[in-house]
Amino acid sequence: MERHPSRHPSRKAVLRAALAAGVTAPAVLMGVPALARTVAPTGTAPEPTPACDDGDDPTPPQMEGPYFKPNSPRRTSLLEPGTPGTRLTVTGYVFGLACRPLSGVLLDFWQADVNGAYDNAGFRFRGHQFTGADGSFTLTTIVPGLYPGRTRHLHVKAQAPGRPVLTTQLYFPGEPRNNTDPLFDARLLMTVRDAGGGSQAAFDFVLNVPQTPGPGPGPTPPPGGGGWAVGTAYRPGDRVTYGTGAYTCLQGHTAQPGWEPPKAPALWRAG
Ligand SMILES: [Fe+2]
Repeated sequence: MERHPSRHPSRKAVLRAALAAGVTAPAVLMGVPALARTVAPTGTAPEPTPACDDGDDPTPPQMEGPYFKPNSPRRTSLLEPGTPGTRLTVTGYVFGLACRPLSGVLLDFWQADVNGAYDNAGFRFRGHQFTGADGSFTLTTIVPGLYPGRTRHLHVKAQAPGRPVLTTQLYFPGEPRNNTDPLFDARLLMTVRDAGGGSQAAFDFVLNVPQTPGPGPGPTPPPGGGGWAVGTAYRPGDRVTYGTGAYTCLQGHTAQPGWEPPKAPALWRAG
């Protein structure tokens, strides 16, 4: 089925803009395109990554393959001293079904080295991490090498707290073998651009975690208002007090330091 990720501005795009703005000025990027997703270096427009419009499908699963190992070290960088290979950074967010970010999601990555080999004796190019309060993650690694029968890919397991594991793989645009690898799925393409001699990739996961009609991760604010609190998932219309003022939520988000109502007019209005 053909997908139409640009048919209307998704809630995710707006929310992602707020998230991407970081803790200093979340309002600044509201209304700005969420992420400068670019075409592949070859000039071939990649298939879109999964959009998180309401009702869209979760990120599809893929086979684990023969090289997964449990108990990987907790680390966001798989680089070790002298690691050969083109540097690769993968950033993104993990969302639930209502496009709210999911914090504390376990992401366990494993991949081949520059020669296409997996470390089955140790844990090179294996590592797990947890998404932050805003649902974001960053993986620092190298572009994996090719091995027979497969196109270029990363393996990952993603698991929200108390939810089933999603096992899947992420792909690179513009790879000749994407056309011949029967496992390849365009819905799992990262966006990748060259950056300073390395590659910068982005991918957002959508996990099968119910979030409708409202409460996302974190505690729900008490009805009728309460104190603003970091980590709370606020919905449009939620009311809080902060300092001496009362505020109404304009945009669903998970509260972070720096997003206090007076500092984030895109998220909160007085009254
Ligand atoms: Fe593999």
